Amino acid sequence: MKLPVLDANLMLRPALGESGLDPARLEGELAERFRAAHARVEARRAEGEIGFLDLPRAVQASRRVQELADSFGQLFENVVVVGIGGSGLGAVMLRDALLAPRWNERTAEERDHFPRLYVLDNPDPSTVSSLLDGLELGRTLFNVVSKSGSTAETMALYLVARERLARRVEPEQVRAHFLFTTDPDRGALRRIAEAEGIATLALPPNVGGRYSVLSPAGLWPAAATGVDVDALLAGARAMAERCMGEALLANPAGLFATLLHAADVEQGRSVHVLMPYSDRLRSLALWFQQLWAESLGKELKGPTPLPALGASDQHSQVQLFMEGPHDKVVVFVAAAEGGEGVPIPSLHGETEELGYLGGHTLGALLDAERRATTEALRRAGRPSLTLELGRLDAYSVGALSMLFQIATVYAGALYGVDPLDQPGVELGKRLACGLLGRAGFEAPAAGNGDPRWRV
Ligand code: PA5
Repeated sequence: MKLPVLDANLMLRPALGESGLDPARLEGELAERFRAAHARVEARRAEGEIGFLDLPRAVQASRRVQELADSFGQLFENVVVVGIGGSGLGAVMLRDALLAPRWNERTAEERDHFPRLYVLDNPDPSTVSSLLDGLELGRTLFNVVSKSGSTAETMALYLVARERLARRVEPEQVRAHFLFTTDPDRGALRRIAEAEGIATLALPPNVGGRYSVLSPAGLWPAAATGVDVDALLAGARAMAERCMGEALLANPAGLFATLLHAADVEQGRSVHVLMPYSDRLRSLALWFQQLWAESLGKELKGPTPLPALGASDQHSQVQLFMEGPHDKVVVFVAAAEGGEGVPIPSLHGETEELGYLGGHTLGALLDAERRATTEALRRAGRPSLTLELGRLDAYSVGALSMLFQIATVYAGALYGVDPLDQPGVELGKRLACGLLGRAGFEAPAAGNGDPRWRV
């Protein structure tokens, strides 16, 4: 099994030309800068603050996840994860990357009798109603995921799901349709679970939402749908080992963080695009967006992550990447063609615009599009990184997710911000509670503003 490889050539001279960083700095000043950041991360790790690094070795927790997946998963036709932000995006990312495409539309046989998997995050009434109206609730398990056990969106969706379920099943059966993933000791979900005997999985107190993909928050939905959780954790473990050393050029997460940080603070390249060339990795870009944004955007600092998808965005955002302001770095993710190679038939051989395509595969076309875009950006002096994933499977996705998480804490140390907190999210949460009348929470004054400026 191979770990993903980070190719940084196109951030550097001579490959990128004058816009590139001087590679000698990777063995000099940038190596020193990283060494200092590494030391700060190590100090926090020694204090037990960076819990996600321990998840790949948390044998007991993953055993409990697998046991609960085995006992629950195939009893139900549908699993609905209810969770928002870090409590939902990891499950979506793993589902889209690792389950067969159009999973929920497949028959039970095609799914090997594993359940369909939905994730409800946004309390948009039309999405919620259309999902809940369409599911046979008597055959549905709700996995409510909330570290705090108090996020308004998640709590409201839980209440809606519970009330709908109570209309369909006997009162004494309601609790068997829930699994709560939450803090081991605190919060409303924990109290409800204890009072009613609802099954639970514990989120380690030192693992924050956006670093929880390898905790029960991400692992249980994956295990319940038949993903090889051991392989996922093995990939994460192997990558964590690669990314713990202080030598910059032997540490892909360190190199990723150091180059993107330098591009931002030295060259004004503050927009960091993540562009996988695989539909199955589209959600990876959304998961990374939250990780990078919520971890690093604070104290007037922080890059702006921008998700993109190859090849589709070549016909959308790439014009901006090529000729817009010099404020971006594009991170390509290349996945090797899987079993679904799909040959392109040699039809219309006499037609110039079509004939050359015959004999290739769709996977080869996608890869050629990526390589062509990389080269076009290079010629325009636009830097990029490429993460070569190899096979897209549980091992490589576990490894890649660990690389990004470790890179994020290194980037936090480089920017001089705390990548583990999110104080900027709290005020909005509190004001929303106030607007809905929660005791002790301030509601913003209604109707402030000059009517002339409403047109
Ligand atoms: O990454 C984070 O910490 C946040 O995005 C949280 O995951 C999100 O706010 C949901 O919080 P909770 O799990 O407490 O419901």
